[in-house]
Formats: sequence, C-alpha cells, structure tokens
Amino acid sequence: MLDRLAKRFGSRFGADKIVGGETFSQAIPLIKQLNYEGLQVTVDHLGEFVNSEKEARERTQECIESIQAIAHHQLNSEISLKLTSLGLDISQNVVLDNMELILEEAKQYGITVTIDMEDSSRSGTTLEIYKTLKNRYSNLGTVIQSYLYRSDEDIDDLHAYDPYLRLVKGAYKESGKVAFVDKPMVDENLKRLIEKNVLNGHYTAIGSHDDAIIEFTKNLAKKHNISKDQFEFQMLYGMRNQTQQKLINEGYTVRVYLPYGEDWYGYFMRRLAERPANIAFAIKGIFKK
Ligand code: FDA
Repeated sequence: MLDRLAKRFGSRFGADKIVGGETFSQAIPLIKQLNYEGLQVTVDHLGEFVNSEKEARERTQECIESIQAIAHHQLNSEISLKLTSLGLDISQNVVLDNMELILEEAKQYGITVTIDMEDSSRSGTTLEIYKTLKNRYSNLGTVIQSYLYRSDEDIDDLHAYDPYLRLVKGAYKESGKVAFVDKPMVDENLKRLIEKNVLNGHYTAIGSHDDAIIEFTKNLAKKHNISKDQFEFQMLYGMRNQTQQKLINEGYTVRVYLPYGEDWYGYFMRRLAERPANIAFAIKGIFKK
C-alpha cells in the first residue's frame, strides 16, 4: 500500500533528487550532463528480491538493454546490479546464467559491471558467484562492506582474483553477531580495508561521502606514492555535489551511482534511514509545485 502510494507520488516526496528516472531513456540526459561535468557514472536498475525465473530474465534483459544504450549513446558509464534481482534467491544456476548473458554483452563494449552487496545472509553466495565469474570476465567488480567482521578475510581471499572492489560501510540492518554495531569501528575498519586493498595493488573504488574517509584515502595515496589512476571515489547521485566537483578539480576520478527504475522505494527509504538530512529535501519536494 505504502509502496503503491510512494510510487504514485514519488517525485513529490523528493525521490527524483536521488533517482535518475523510471526508465533508462529518462536517465540518459542526466548521464550526459554528469559526464559533461567530468563525472563518470555507474547506473543501477533498481529492483531486488525477484522470485520468478521469468521476472529475473526480464531484469537481465533490462540490464542488457542499458548496456546497449550506454554503448549506443557513447556514455561514460558502467552498470551496477543486485543479484537478488537476477534470481539469487531462486538458484545459483539461474543467477549465473543471467549474469553470463549480461557480462557477455558488457564485454563486447568494454563496460564494467559491479555486483552490489546486499544483506549479510547473501554475502557468502554473492562472493562465490563473483569468484566463479571473475575467472572468466575481467570486467567484473563487487562490493565489500566494512561493518561486517568477515570483510577483512574476504579481502585476503579475493586478492588472488585481482578484484575490482567498491569499499563501503554497509547499508543494511545487521546484528552484532556478524557486524560492528559501533559506528567508529565501522569507519576504522573501512580505513583498514581501503589500505589493504590499495596496497595489495588492486584498483579500488571508495564508496563514501565521509570527508574523513576521503582525506584518509588521499593521505594514504600520498604516503605510498599511489597514483590517482589506481583508485576512484564513488558517491550516490544527488549527494555532496560540491565535494564531487572539488575532487575532480584536484585530479581525482569521481563516479556517481545513478539509480533508475520504477522500484525506487526501498532504495529511497534506505537513504532516508541512513541520513535523516535527506528528509529536508524530501519534505521540500512534498510542497513543491
Ligand atoms: P556516513 O553515512 O557514515 O556519514 C559520515 C559523514 O559523512 C557524515 O557525518 C557527514 O559528515 C558526511 N556525509 C554523509 N553523507 C552526506 C551527504 N549526503 N551530504 C553531506 N555530508 C554527508 N551499501 C551496501 O550495503 N551495498 C552496496 O552495494 C552499496 N553500494 C554503494 C555504492 C556507492 C557508490 C555508495 C556511495 C554507497 C554504497 N552503499 C552500499 C552505501 C554505503 O554502505 C553507506 O551506507 C553510505 O554510503 C553511507 O555511508 P558514508 O560512508 O557515505 O557516510
């Protein structure tokens, strides 16, 4: 019910400030504008938890079409996706088949695909699928969340696969059995993981809006003489636009994560939960004419 209402009135609740539209076509002018401003992009077709093979195949087709559109319009964009939208909860075979179709298409055009990381009950399977596919497709990345205790070992385990990793704090509600509940510990662990993965020599995406994390990364690079083309900063569309521009002016690569699609409700609510300040523009959106 709430979901249906939100869909109907979504743009008036401010969702359009952080979501690029309901279709990929609507997102194209935005991607062009972001590219024009010097930003690289990763588009994410919103949607998770698909439980029929038919729907998972439809989502696969949508990813393929967005890859074709990126190539056709010569956009500077990668794609991000969630395995639950491609059938992870149905079977590993279904999700592997769908991922192969997507990766074959992306390979043709040299487009990178990043697997988002979902809640901790799916981390193990997601990483197993990542390793299986990474052996055959170099254009594949995934995400490691610093709130999970397991992440340090995961970074060690992935080392042999020359991983492309986006390192983030983590956005799902997790129990103290599997995750740090103290925010300072999550922040410190993110710094440790960034240091480890960068010093392991792997191209690293730092997915954070936190100045302390950004400064830490810059200092780490200076201290170890790591070139600016060995890592990039990633931020969500609509967040910290001035910081993004400042980083570009300083010569860093910045990539914006631009979600689009009809199923924006879960994404929007996670962003609201993690930063109530987002409510400010959402409320302005309600009163906007
Ligand atoms: P955090 O929320 O910890 O805030 C720290 C400080 O940063 C704040 O006190 C404030 O000073 C500043 N700040 C943060 N947001 C700001 C804003 N909007 N405006 C101004 N200041 C701000 N999670 C996940 O579980 N799986 C995934 O696959 C991904 N993927 C992903 C991709 C990308 C590109 C990003 C940026 C993030 C994700 N995430 C994610 C989400 C991630 O795990 C995390 O929940 C959010 O990025 C919030 O954490 P931060 O490090 O950004 O800052």
